Order: sequence, then structure tokens, then C-alpha cells
Amino acid sequence: MSEIVIVPGSSNAPLAFLIAKRLGVNPAVVEIRKFPDSEKYVRIDSDVNGKNVFIIQSMHFRPDEYIIESLLLASAARDAGAKSVSLVAPYFAYARQDERFKPGESISVAAIAGLLNVSGISGLITVDVHRHRILDFGSVFSGKWIDVSVMPDLTKYAASQGLLDSETVIVGPDGEAIQWAKLAAESVGIKEYGALQKKRYGDENVKVSGNLDIRGRNVFMVDDIISTGGTIIEASKLISDGGGKLKGVACAHGLFVSDALYKLYREGITEIISSDTIPNQTTRVSSAEALTKGILNIVK
Ligand code: R5P
Repeated sequence: MSEIVIVPGSSNAPLAFLIAKRLGVNPAVVEIRKFPDSEKYVRIDSDVNGKNVFIIQSMHFRPDEYIIESLLLASAARDAGAKSVSLVAPYFAYARQDERFKPGESISVAAIAGLLNVSGISGLITVDVHRHRILDFGSVFSGKWIDVSVMPDLTKYAASQGLLDSETVIVGPDGEAIQWAKLAAESVGIKEYGALQKKRYGDENVKVSGNLDIRGRNVFMVDDIISTGGTIIEASKLISDGGGKLKGVACAHGLFVSDALYKLYREGITEIISSDTIPNQTTRVSSAEALTKGILNIVK
């Protein structure tokens, strides 16, 4: 197997170090800073010639900046003779704008994947990437794409904390979350899982509906992303109206924008766990192991 070089982007360097440790390599030395006019400067000060380079870059909070930084790192690695350049994007931004909802809009996920394609990035590894209207990233990204999941680890952690057991019903708050509910349920041998339906009326305005048989049952909710918290809050009201008891919530990517956590807590939703794709105060599980497997899968 050719040598692997882990290049830490500036968005989530600790995760890059965890991955490098699992692979038994030292992370590359990088210099990343901004010029006085805000443009990014990057320099890889390690030998990448003839090696498989993996740029570790989550894309939360400042997605545009991290995307540009990744493209600059990819070009630096390529120019320095890398055998291949892959992007490990634990949180892949723009995945939710995967359709032209109104005439004149960009299908952002396709536009971003197009940037990776023309930048010579031949591998892309994501974690539980948002897949709704575009189910196969291979339709927009021309290289090898691997999506790994932290849902099993999140669910096992929740079980270890007494938040779910074999009688719990796993619920996804919207139609596309059925995939996460299924993964979560199967990872701990739970038979009953399902999903509600959601209609979005604005960035922070959703309506959740559905009719699951949860009366008198303990419920654990899973989703890929919690952003404003609106989806989880609306779904929790429906669960409670339906006679279910929400024991906790897990998401792969905890964005928790502005006062989302406060709003969730205010609704009594205090048992929330997430992974380290976006480090935050609810992070309990690391994506490093799953991502390391993805990296080994790319180079094999
Ligand atoms: C989109 O459908 C995703 O799967 C999440 O449900 C959504 O991003 C959550 O957003 P928010 O927390 O703002 O409702």
C-alpha cells in the first residue's frame, strides 16, 4: 500500500490527529493563515511526493472558507507530486441544497462537487452525508466516494447510557431520516423503527406530521443534522401528542446554530448526543475510527 499523508485542515485539526494516530502516521506539517486582506495562504511543509494525501476538513460554520482552503491544499499537494489527493469531509456542507426548489437557484451540492472534480480530488469521504433528493453522490462527484456512518456508535453509546433498550422505538423526524433510524435500530438489534414526515416552510419553520404507533412507548430520535433544532422540537411535540416518551436524541452533525441548544433544552430535550464531525458540548462519539476505515478503503 502506498504511503498515506494526513493533512489537517483548520476546521477540525483534532479529528485529523485522531485519524493520523489510528493510521500510525504523523500528520503533515501545514501552515494555514490569512493574508491581511483575508485571502487564505496554505503551505504543506511535509513530503507528499508519490504519496496518497488525505485532507481532513469539516465544513461547518465557515463552509465557504473551508472549501477554498481545501481546494488550495489540494492544489499544493498535487503540485508537490502527490500520487492522489482525497478530501475527507466529516461534515460536508451544502448537501441540503440538492434540488432547484425555485427557478434560478443553484443546486449547490452539485456546484461544490464540481469544484472538487476540477481540482483533481479523486476521493471523497463523508460521514452520514445528507442524502435526500441526490441519493448517490457518485452522480455529482466523479471520483471515488465513500460515506461512513457514526449512527451505530451513537446508538450504542445511547444504550450504554440507558437512553434506549430493546423495547425502544427509533424514530427519524422526517422521511429521509428513515435511513438513519434503520441503521441505528439494526446496530443494537431493535426491531421497531420508523419516520415522521416534514414540510419545510422556511429556514426555521417546519411542520412535522405522521402517525406512528408509539403510545406508551419509549422513543429515541435520530437525524443526520441538527441545525436550528426546529425539526427535532416539532417532531418531539408530535411524539408527545402521540403518547410516546422521548428519551433522547442523536445526530451525526451537531451544528446547533445560534440558540438551538437552549431551545431544545427549553422543550425538555436535554439528552442529546452527537459526533465529533462538528465538535460541540453534546459530542460523545468520535468519527475517527469510521473515517480511518474509509481512508484504508480508498487506498486499497
Ligand atoms: C434536513 O432535512 C436534515 O436531515 C435535518 O433534519 C435538518 O437539517 C435539521 O435542521 P433544523 O435543526 O434546522 O430543523
